[in-house]
Amino acid sequence: MSTEIQIESVLTENRVFPAFPELVKDATISGMDAYQALCDEADADPDAFWARLARENLVWNKPFTQVLDASEAPFYHWYPDGELNVSANCLDRHLGTPTADKNAIIFESDDGKVSRLTYKELHARVCEFANGLTALGHGMGERAIIYMPMSVEAVIAMQACARLGIIHSVVFGGFSSKSLHERAVDVGATLVITADAQVRAGKHIPLKSAVDEALAMGGCEALRHVVVYRRTGGDVAWQEGRDLWMHEVSAGQAQTHTAAPVNAEHPLFILYTSGSTGKPKGVQHASAGFLLWALMTVKWTFDAKDSDVFWCTADVGWVTGHTYVTYGPLAAGLTQIIFEGVPTYPDAGRFWDMIERHKVTVFYTAPTAIRSLTKAAETTPAVHPREYDLSSLRILGSVGEPINPEAWVWYYKQVGGERCPVLDTWWQTETGAHMITPLPGVTPMKPGSCTLPLPGIDAAVVDEMGEDVARGTGGFLVIKRPWPGMIRTIWGDPERFKKSYFPPELKGYYLAGDGAQRDSDGYFWIMGRIDDVLNISGHRLGTMEIESALVSHEMVAEAAVVGRADATTGEAVVAFVVLNQSLPEGEEAIRIATELRNWVAKEIGPIAKPKEIRFGENLPKTRSGKIMRRLLRVVASGEAVTQDVSTLENPAILDQLSQAR
Ligand code: WT7
Repeated sequence: MSTEIQIESVLTENRVFPAFPELVKDATISGMDAYQALCDEADADPDAFWARLARENLVWNKPFTQVLDASEAPFYHWYPDGELNVSANCLDRHLGTPTADKNAIIFESDDGKVSRLTYKELHARVCEFANGLTALGHGMGERAIIYMPMSVEAVIAMQACARLGIIHSVVFGGFSSKSLHERAVDVGATLVITADAQVRAGKHIPLKSAVDEALAMGGCEALRHVVVYRRTGGDVAWQEGRDLWMHEVSAGQAQTHTAAPVNAEHPLFILYTSGSTGKPKGVQHASAGFLLWALMTVKWTFDAKDSDVFWCTADVGWVTGHTYVTYGPLAAGLTQIIFEGVPTYPDAGRFWDMIERHKVTVFYTAPTAIRSLTKAAETTPAVHPREYDLSSLRILGSVGEPINPEAWVWYYKQVGGERCPVLDTWWQTETGAHMITPLPGVTPMKPGSCTLPLPGIDAAVVDEMGEDVARGTGGFLVIKRPWPGMIRTIWGDPERFKKSYFPPELKGYYLAGDGAQRDSDGYFWIMGRIDDVLNISGHRLGTMEIESALVSHEMVAEAAVVGRADATTGEAVVAFVVLNQSLPEGEEAIRIATELRNWVAKEIGPIAKPKEIRFGENLPKTRSGKIMRRLLRVVASGEAVTQDVSTLENPAILDQLSQAR
């Protein structure tokens, strides 16, 4: 754990935006008093609070008699003797209610084609596929890799796994075959569900061939089937017996299926995320606790209403797509939009156009998208949100990274027309769902602050010994009490789970890995990561992961990766590289840098590509050989190094790295 959190005051924006109580009529949490009452209820008797929510909001096959088993802390078990099925809680619960005939999904493809699916129809398709997987011999406790584009089929695949007790691990379609391989091996996958290709901005990007490459790398001997959703109909290589079309797996199967009840703690999914060492962590979530928290936050934060048209733009490859596409909105019976394409195709008005056409009421996206669309709107007036009718909107949300006050205010004014609250939701892959966020109509907002914790969430800012710091002082963001949606363990690595999230000096608190401070109103301000994790366009990437990719290239002797502030992507990757040859100049330097950037894309995925690579004969190190990343961050930002460099073995190297391009 790094102790060098440097907190310059982030409390630059003191403007407070009122909560518009009149705009969120009959909200689930109807005002500050109601919010406070829920917080008090949770604090007074956490077990009773979480028991009440789980009884009132989930459908159980076997009711639980115990709420929290902390006997193996920090390996917490929630509702340990209860049984339910997550997919039944998303689909079957709506059958026989008016929700059954309501649209569950409005899908819009990259080329603008729209298709709709009611809850009844979605249920039938999930059942067919679950029956097909059963016929192939797949079931309870197996692990499936899902490597698919944004599609109805991706939701069907995840829901079918949940119905059968198959633990899914979704890999974002932008990850390389190498990353896919690493994950397939780590989970011991018996099944891969993929597509022939994905379509983005008119381009076809193959997926099945990446699966073939990954499986050819070895170590996946447990694998029995690759099920392929036919998206484009392009050519794919085929291994008879192993490879099957998704529509053929479903063909002729019954449209009903009895969802398998699982223990509340049965793993629902494993989702890999970057940590401070090279190997991504397989974050393991449990069935009941995860679903409860996904559903509660859809109800509380997004004030879910039967009449809503909900649109979370995240890909199912990230946790946001798990919680706020595949599970939360369906459990809540909402109509949601699923979008295949990108926000800038056919032009940067795509989001606004879709909000207008589908009459979206709740819109949830990432600051990086807002910033790039702001830029586009400034240069191309035709794609400015004011050119569209966005009057259906009532709630706006932001997720994935700190939203800078300028972007917040633009979102609030230009998209929300100063009528809609902007909810800056802080959470993580590990927390399962929202943790600190304003509530619509309830919480006055300050741009740049995620404001206050949700009821039941005991968030705090502490020092290295776990003591609360004073208001206005920076420290580590922790959650003091366990909550049902929390990570259960790191798949296959319980020791790393304990070490990463529950360091002994922090009194058993969950360590989020973010620096934070609270202002005089108790509002939380997130200051960014305290570990070597970067946030590029809302995606987490470990610096060591990118360094390992770079040094695996034959030309590279050594590499150090740091983040640099970027106006669009939040942070950008800057790599300092020492080659196994003399320092390259001019054309040669450009050629090698391009080759290394493509190499990183191939090793990890295009999102990890360094924005800039600087070559040096060495890296700045202490006499004991430790790379001084702090100095590299200054160099990467283009600022002059003013820190004391007397402990450096080779201070002159800083000049070289500052100049080299
Ligand atoms: C990290 C988690 C949250 C789901 C998608 C990303 C940063 C996330 C905010 C926010 C400031 C934020 C944190 C966090 N982060 N939301 N509203 N304000 N920072 O999940 O990939 O697990 O990343 O994203 O640094 O630790 P993730």
